Amino acid sequence: PSGGRPLLDGAPDREARIRELLAARASVYAEAHARVVTDGVSPADVAGRVLRAYADRPLFVPLGDKSYAVRIAADGAASAADAVAALSPSSVFVVTDENVSRLWGAPLLDALAAHAKPAAAVTVLTPGEEHKRLAAVEAALTAMLDAGADRDAVVLAHGGGVVTDIGGFAASTLLRGVRWVAAPTTLLSMVDASVGGKTGVDLGPAKNAVGTFHQPSAVVASPAALATETDRAFRSGLAEVVKSACIADPELHALLEREADRVLARDPGLLAELIRRSIAVKAAIVARDERESGDRALLNFGHTLGHALEAEGGFVRLAHGEAVSLGMVAMLRVGCSLGVTDRAAADRVVRLLARLGLPTRIEDEPVSAALRFLSLDKKRRGSSVRTVLMRDIGSTFVEPMPLDRLSSLLERAAAGAA
Ligand SMILES: NC(=O)c1ccc[n+]([C@@H]2O[C@H](COP(=O)([O-])OP(=O)(O)OC[C@H]3O[C@@H](n4cnc5c(N)ncnc54)[C@H](O)[C@@H]3O)[C@@H](O)[C@H]2O)c1
Ligand SMILES: [Zn+2]
Repeated sequence: PSGGRPLLDGAPDREARIRELLAARASVYAEAHARVVTDGVSPADVAGRVLRAYADRPLFVPLGDKSYAVRIAADGAASAADAVAALSPSSVFVVTDENVSRLWGAPLLDALAAHAKPAAAVTVLTPGEEHKRLAAVEAALTAMLDAGADRDAVVLAHGGGVVTDIGGFAASTLLRGVRWVAAPTTLLSMVDASVGGKTGVDLGPAKNAVGTFHQPSAVVASPAALATETDRAFRSGLAEVVKSACIADPELHALLEREADRVLARDPGLLAELIRRSIAVKAAIVARDERESGDRALLNFGHTLGHALEAEGGFVRLAHGEAVSLGMVAMLRVGCSLGVTDRAAADRVVRLLARLGLPTRIEDEPVSAALRFLSLDKKRRGSSVRTVLMRDIGSTFVEPMPLDRLSSLLERAAAGAA
């Protein structure tokens, strides 16, 4: 009774007792929205970490012992460093690209040094999808091993979806898998690429053909970083926000309609809310279906034709979100023609997309040519496509459809027969 630790006093082997208690509580601790490491940290710094975690209002992605928190941070660099420190890593490896490193790299490296550990190596990749290749993964892994990485290392991927896909993939294969933290810097990577655990690279002509499922240990999105994103990339990311709203969040749709001007002006507080809501939609679906056997297909709303249009344009003519916007318009028309989609709701979505500067004129698109890419892709997996249709804003469902039928519905929709 001397130490005032009732759970430990009287235990013959205190350390064994501590381990036992920790094991019994581990599954509960795994669901904590924030973790603050206090070892060797000043009380003032602990208070700073607690305040940041509180201000970030972390969102929780519940995946059992692979659960993690997503922070939408006002001070992205400090919160990212906090998330890394919470993992008590043996060493920290940053993967980023030239643009992000130039614009946002210095504060992150400073914050790591101040609140976690100085980066043991920083891999600065050449930006661009054409560099999302195994060579980039090899460069990152080589830097990590050269700097003495062990199994307790943590990889911090700081950049857009290309960087988080490469950084996550490198983490999943380094010494058969180490932990990683995603610090996404584009709207697309914040609302989509960094949550869900898909990692990987392109091989030959095949996009995302080589990869793993490897959930991050934390995600820290900093809306302030979006100030430097190009207008086209930012709008492209907004298409995924509209997609999330259509899938499961009618309030998000209403918010976008009401505040379109402030959205386009990139008001950071408003962006934080859009990102939070979009991630919540994705997190709930991923939690139900981590490995994409069922519900996760909902996240592909607008993506079947979207991917085909992207491929038809050589991935240059249309940005991903622009193609998804057109794909959603097409699926809304298909839904109307089948009588499952509320026509007024469909009109609202199309108006919102146009208001956000996204393309909606599917009748001007080479849909028949694009559908040839679709059939090439699907032939490998049998001819039924898990089509996503919207009933009403915030309510979608998956309907398996023979490829031929979907193709003819899409062609008719594009021709204006809704
Ligand atoms: N893993 C997944 O679940 C998933 C989901 C969706 C998309 N993705 C992948 O994400 C990739 C697309 O992501 P992306 O659009 O973020 O591409 P990206 O990473 O190529 O970034 C686009 C460009 O913006 C620059 N950039 C990044 N942040 C910036 C900032 N804050 N300010 C200024 N410039 C900045 C980059 O250097 C790059 O030139 C694709 O490869 C796609 O396959 C993955
Ligand atoms: Zn997408």
